Amino acid sequence: MALRKLVAGNWKMHGLSSDLVEVRAIAAASHAYPQVDLALCVPAILIERAARAAPGFAIGGQDVHHADKGAHTGGTSALMLLDAGASLTIVGHSERRDAHRESDDEVKAKAEAALSCGLNVILCVGESLEVRGRGGAVDTVGAQLAGSLPASLDGEAELAVAYEPIWAIGTGKIPTTAEIGEMHASIRASLGSRYGADGAQVRILYGGSVKPSNAGEIFAITDVDGALVGGASLKAADFIPIVEAAAAVEGRGFIA
Ligand code: 13P
Repeated sequence: MALRKLVAGNWKMHGLSSDLVEVRAIAAASHAYPQVDLALCVPAILIERAARAAPGFAIGGQDVHHADKGAHTGGTSALMLLDAGASLTIVGHSERRDAHRESDDEVKAKAEAALSCGLNVILCVGESLEVRGRGGAVDTVGAQLAGSLPASLDGEAELAVAYEPIWAIGTGKIPTTAEIGEMHASIRASLGSRYGADGAQVRILYGGSVKPSNAGEIFAITDVDGALVGGASLKAADFIPIVEAAAAVEGRGFIA
């Protein structure tokens, strides 16, 4: 059975007070698509203003510290994100796994810390171009999941997994629909082995160069339960057509 779609924006290191107009526009337009869940993950320092600008709209962080407090200069805890008005956070984005050398263990600890506080989590995985080129994408992502998925899904908070091939991020290149379908099926199987029947309820998002022009095709693939959108989430004019594509695909047939 198809899960309700989640379309989340990742603003990365973009966003000033002057961009709150986009948050407001996206939140306002979201009422037109009640069949799709929406969220915007903004820089930590913008969360409170974004949450105030769009009451009731899901605002998220882009990273979280695994500890609840302490001597961690520059860190932001899950409770701090919640306190600022966030309802979710991304963990394990490839830009953090790479530039900040985050290991699977660390990503797992972050995901568990967030979920245990009631913060929904989007946990990212994805392979490099080199790995894809030598045919190791499915195994690599499987190993990332084995190392970074939280041990259990006991609490109220929701876990989603985002498959983001590193070579597709910000490049305009995307895998074929067959490659996305193969990866999402494999992620679904990993979720089943980890969580049993509950694994079927975990949404699997695709991320990497999602645009209004390709969103419909991506959302129609089996086990693509939404998208994590970078560049095209910065402006309502780009993001809303992607949401519209997700809404259009709800209830339609799926391609393999
Ligand atoms: P782009 O949509 O800009 O390729 O970024 C994808 C991404 O990294 C979302 O987390």
